Amino acid sequence: MRKPVIAGNWKMHNTISEALDLVRGVKPQVEGVTDVEIIVSPVYTALASVAAELKGSNINVASQNIFWEEKGAFTGEVAPNMITDAGCTHAIIGHSERRQYFGETDQTVNKRVKAALSVGLIPIVCVGETLEERDSGKTIAVVDVQVKGGLVELSAEDIAKIIIAYEPVWAIGTGKTATPDMAEEVHKQIRSVVADISDASIADGTRILYGGSVKPENVDDLMAQPNIDGALVGGAALKVDSFVRLVKFDQKRSAFK
Ligand code: PGA
Repeated sequence: MRKPVIAGNWKMHNTISEALDLVRGVKPQVEGVTDVEIIVSPVYTALASVAAELKGSNINVASQNIFWEEKGAFTGEVAPNMITDAGCTHAIIGHSERRQYFGETDQTVNKRVKAALSVGLIPIVCVGETLEERDSGKTIAVVDVQVKGGLVELSAEDIAKIIIAYEPVWAIGTGKTATPDMAEEVHKQIRSVVADISDASIADGTRILYGGSVKPENVDDLMAQPNIDGALVGGAALKVDSFVRLVKFDQKRSAFK
């Protein structure tokens, strides 16, 4: 059984007080939800305050990135143990905005994944094709390379801990969602790549999230797909009501997973 994950990627939004307002709104409304793993991902400056506010609750906190060195002269970077120290349990790694604007590559993703695992943080590894890649029929090949490259040299035991997020770049923040069938096709392929680099039972347990304009109107259809195990959500995670609705997606339709 794969426990579904609903993760809010807040990107560069919310000051500390705005972040606290948001989680204080969400927390009482999702109290008692035990069958969905709930994650929020504030900016670095709000991590510790949000994690303190959520301590003992059923909402986990993720950073949006992580550096791979333990400490030293790396101005502007934040080390893995500093992320756990702030109260995080997860780290988003290799988001397409980091690949697009900050030079992230599969090699740097791999270093960050290893660094996260070394301190017990669960990596949420993001992959996805651009519009140009999709239009030229390269989606599956691109995603294969990103999954294999991001997870290279990991033990099967470590691969078993990882969450993968498939986020087609053309669907992020654009209002264009991949249809459930389009997403399912890629998720199925990602699961088979995970099986290739580990084994079938690990692949069967790996949570693969969809991301890209997920909202209350489309979450149920996406989550009903057999290989879609959750959502990584940007815009719709910034409002209490829509995030709560995503957490409370229609589980009956995906109960067979
Ligand atoms: P979006 O962002 O839901 O606003 O499209 C998703 C993401 O980038 O994680």
